[in-house]
Amino acid sequence: IPVNQEMIAELTSPPFVPTPVGKRMAKKLIVDLEIQEREGEMTSGVKYIYWTFGGTVPGSFIRTRVGDEIEFHLKNHPDNKLPHNIDLHAVNGPGGGAESSFVAPGHEKVFSFKVLNPGLYVYHCATAPVGMHIANGMYGLILVEPEGGLEPVDKEYYIMQGDFYTEGKYGERGLQAFDMQKAIDENADYVVFNGHVGAMTGDNAITANVGETVRLFVGNGGPNLVSSFHVIGEIFDKVYVEGGDLVNDNVQTTLIPAGGAAIVEFKVEVPGTFILVDHSIFRAFNKGALGMLKVGGEENEKVFAGEIHDGIYLPEGSVIQSMPSLDRNKEKEEVKALSFEEKMKFGKDKYMATCVACHQGNGQGIPNAFPPLANSDYLNADVDRAIDIVLHGLSGEITVNGKKYNSVMTAQALSDQDVANVLTYVYNSWGNNKTDVTPEMVEAVRN
Ligand code: HEM
Ligand code: CU
Repeated sequence: IPVNQEMIAELTSPPFVPTPVGKRMAKKLIVDLEIQEREGEMTSGVKYIYWTFGGTVPGSFIRTRVGDEIEFHLKNHPDNKLPHNIDLHAVNGPGGGAESSFVAPGHEKVFSFKVLNPGLYVYHCATAPVGMHIANGMYGLILVEPEGGLEPVDKEYYIMQGDFYTEGKYGERGLQAFDMQKAIDENADYVVFNGHVGAMTGDNAITANVGETVRLFVGNGGPNLVSSFHVIGEIFDKVYVEGGDLVNDNVQTTLIPAGGAAIVEFKVEVPGTFILVDHSIFRAFNKGALGMLKVGGEENEKVFAGEIHDGIYLPEGSVIQSMPSLDRNKEKEEVKALSFEEKMKFGKDKYMATCVACHQGNGQGIPNAFPPLANSDYLNADVDRAIDIVLHGLSGEITVNGKKYNSVMTAQALSDQDVANVLTYVYNSWGNNKTDVTPEMVEAVRN
């Protein structure tokens, strides 16, 4: 392709990215981006008016190479209520283009710049009050590839974290207005990847296959919070620190500043669901900062073999116990069956230690986040399914008492007896159907 040829930039919505630049020469690149103010769903039942670059949060991904001359067309849709502009961190020039791009509804501004520094950059609206425009979703990423392009990989995805401030607290239903005071106090109700709770979970999960290398372009729009980006069960083989040239190898968690980015790469070795989080962990489990990467393909037991056996560990005991996996029948004779009262007592202790954080003290759950176990039609319908959930976890959409949940419960590492106790306690509390769950029932589901 000859130099100076003109080309319309391909723009993509998250979690997708445009085609790599490869070996192409620098050229004139026309970027056509439309600002849209539109209602969206923050989480089930909760509406929010997002201000967007291109209709999505984060905004359209822009992919360039070093030396490209960008002719930027910023359009403000006539139905919008406010003026906006754009500050691209990839620009060398006043306000990153903000002053040249200030545009009223129903207008279009054109400005141009040359990308000089390779890297992954944030762009955002910089119209006053700036914090409010960013808090409503006005941010995205622009990638400037080096000459010759980034090394090819198997899968590439676009993820951006943002914090949101609503008048109602997390999960409160209806159309939620932006709350300026909470934003000033940095007291976020929602911290999410790609604009809303569940944007990257269940059917929206990103995918890869065993043996592939995954590259994530990860940005943080803020407006306030720094991200401790982590993928549960993976190690980043490479991190382009802060989106620049510096490469760090073998990283567990990488910091992504508000208004910053990082490129992370890793090879997936085994199948399974890998959870993407902000490791400021209450944000992940209570405010929405949770995504999923689903990896398909063959098991590789050399890399990961799962539980091999559950042995008995008695630090005080001098007598060596027989392992349950070696001699199950003998073990059963020795362990005396617990009475119903004992199961209720031990079950309650286990519940208060393990389940209470999410399902709450009276099993009432947390609206839109954790389903109730009290009076749960879902629980009462199928005891084997409930056992399976405690043993192996649960993800994807479920309906409990008419309300939808689409989140993740991790597998609970409990013995058969403990699972029997805790579920007996749950089934015999809070209006449930009084099922008595035995260790034998648990064992049957486990195997
Ligand atoms: C779903 C039980 C611990 C988060 C469920 C369900 C059951 C259950 C029976 C099915 C839905 C229902 O009946 O309401 C338990 C028990 C636990 C435990 C007995 C302790 C041993 C936890 C913990 C968390 C959690 C610690 C949070 C970290 C969830 C979530 C769902 C769920 C998010 C819905 C998953 C989805 O949307 O697909 N749990 N749970 N659970 N649990 Fe738990
Ligand atoms: Cu704006």
